[in-house]
Amino acid sequence: MSITSGTPVILQRLRSETRPYHDALEQNEFNQSLSAGQASAGATQWFLAKLYGFLKPYEARLDNHSFGPAWDIEQRHRAHLILADVPTNAPLPLCPDMPPLTTWPQLLGAMYVLEGSTLGGQVITRQLAQAGIGSRTYFTGYAEQTGPMWKRFCQLLAEEATPANQAEIVASASLTFQKLHAWINQP
Ligand code: HEM
Repeated sequence: MSITSGTPVILQRLRSETRPYHDALEQNEFNQSLSAGQASAGATQWFLAKLYGFLKPYEARLDNHSFGPAWDIEQRHRAHLILADVPTNAPLPLCPDMPPLTTWPQLLGAMYVLEGSTLGGQVITRQLAQAGIGSRTYFTGYAEQTGPMWKRFCQLLAEEATPANQAEIVASASLTFQKLHAWINQP
């Protein structure tokens, strides 16, 4: 792990190099209407169903890898929480164009994106509560454990990053953001 000014280089690179993708994703139609206090329960469920379509195949890729106990990997599977929020008998559509998540650095980059999304989830939960919209199981996520779960993930990620695999981790995080954005924007 290489460190400058207290933050591991991999985390600095991920944060700065994926920020434009984060900011673009944050501006999606659902979040804009939620921030404006105009989201509906239907729009919330539509957005959750989209997230499910991405998370489910992502979690299947995680299952191809064996994680040590420090990763709390069972808890980091969250797609099933969406099924508590979106009542449906029909199977939800899955994203057909996932990033390639076969190598360990590729998985780490995607995990950065989807674990990081739990931070935004806390903001969304508060906005939904203010708007009187239920369907908050998924966004509540790790609840008061969100900060500690994120910190532990960042620590493990930094331990796994090396000068040799750093570029692949960052490229996978960028691609994951882009593929997720494309899937969410697809009607
Ligand atoms: C599915 C969409 C989203 C994904 C994949 C995502 C991903 C991420 C990631 C990877 C981080 C970690 C950045 C870092 O510190 O290295 C993050 C942080 C954060 N996100 Fe998002 N995010 C999403 C949507 C949102 C939305 C809609 C909001 C606002 C409502 C939001 C607000 C935040 C906040 C407040 C942080 C913490 C920033 C900080 O502590 O400096 N995110 N998100």
